[in-house]
Amino acid sequence: MKITKKDFGLGYTLIEIENDNGVKLRVSDLGARIVGLLIPGEKTRDLVVGFDNAQEYIQKDLYVGATIGRTAGRLIGGNFKINETIYQADVNEHTGNTLHGANGFISDKWTFSIKNNEVVFTHTSPDGEYGYPGNLSVEVKYTLNNDNIWSVEYQAKTDKDTLFNPTNHVYFNLTGNVENTINEHMLMIDADEFLPLSQHSTPIGIKEKVKETVFDFRQPKRLSEVFASDFPQKKLVDGIDHPFLLNKTKNKLDAALFLPKENISIEVTTSEPAVIIYTANGWPDGLDVRGQSSVKHSSITFETQVAPGAVEFPELKLGTIILKANETYTSKTDYKIKF
Ligand code: BGC
Repeated sequence: MKITKKDFGLGYTLIEIENDNGVKLRVSDLGARIVGLLIPGEKTRDLVVGFDNAQEYIQKDLYVGATIGRTAGRLIGGNFKINETIYQADVNEHTGNTLHGANGFISDKWTFSIKNNEVVFTHTSPDGEYGYPGNLSVEVKYTLNNDNIWSVEYQAKTDKDTLFNPTNHVYFNLTGNVENTINEHMLMIDADEFLPLSQHSTPIGIKEKVKETVFDFRQPKRLSEVFASDFPQKKLVDGIDHPFLLNKTKNKLDAALFLPKENISIEVTTSEPAVIIYTANGWPDGLDVRGQSSVKHSSITFETQVAPGAVEFPELKLGTIILKANETYTSKTDYKIKF
């Protein structure tokens, strides 16, 4: 196990953890983000999308690999009620909704500490920031172990009841090249149900069974089949951008992605009840990613969280995203890399 640090530009740092198998996890204090996940081979391959320095993230896309918060996904109208008080989070002027906590954590400079095989990022979001109540202290811990498991663990505390639903926004392409689509990747999600979306990509307030739809990933399915389908929910967002409600079957993975031809896979297990799968539907064609020119559907995210809609549709029982004053929030997601 080896940890090294280097300059990432604009005063930010790039930290690399390398395990005994030569797997490398690269992270940065700009948005407590994942910058790279490299596996050794004839040629080293980076399984996640990332840029070469802080400036490129700021210019191109701050969501890539970042810690998302305070609330992942969309809050309809950005308003919510806690203890009879109505709060208004900042909204996107075009949609009127709050996306990913109104850009909260992704552009923050996080404090970090390094120990053995882990990097711990900490950050405090002040009371009222982006409209959310409570001084919120957040810790994000990334570890890479010798079983090739990269773990993300969150802890948080607030001094006023607030909303908290973080996630991580890593995009995977197991070919290591975003000039390739993810068409040949197989996706498995242990979910019997997903949440259909409105044209604004917000949940409409019902759950739908995946059975007999192209969103049935209970058996692994090639993504080309999804992209080619006429399923209305797929057409609406030109791919997948949906919350899947995890079955939480004992001794079963929550989700997995693999590239059969090359025997590379990522297995996801999480403490969270849902995962949003986003297949980079809105990515600009030709975006320069480490010298590669990205194509549509070039990558896929696994955003583990409580599903959006938890605040607006309590009757769906999606879970709570209210964090009470002085209680500790915790969650953990593991990504096991096999190659
Ligand atoms: C959302 C997409 C959004 C993207 C931004 C995803 O989590 O679901 O709708 O465009 O983040 O990078």
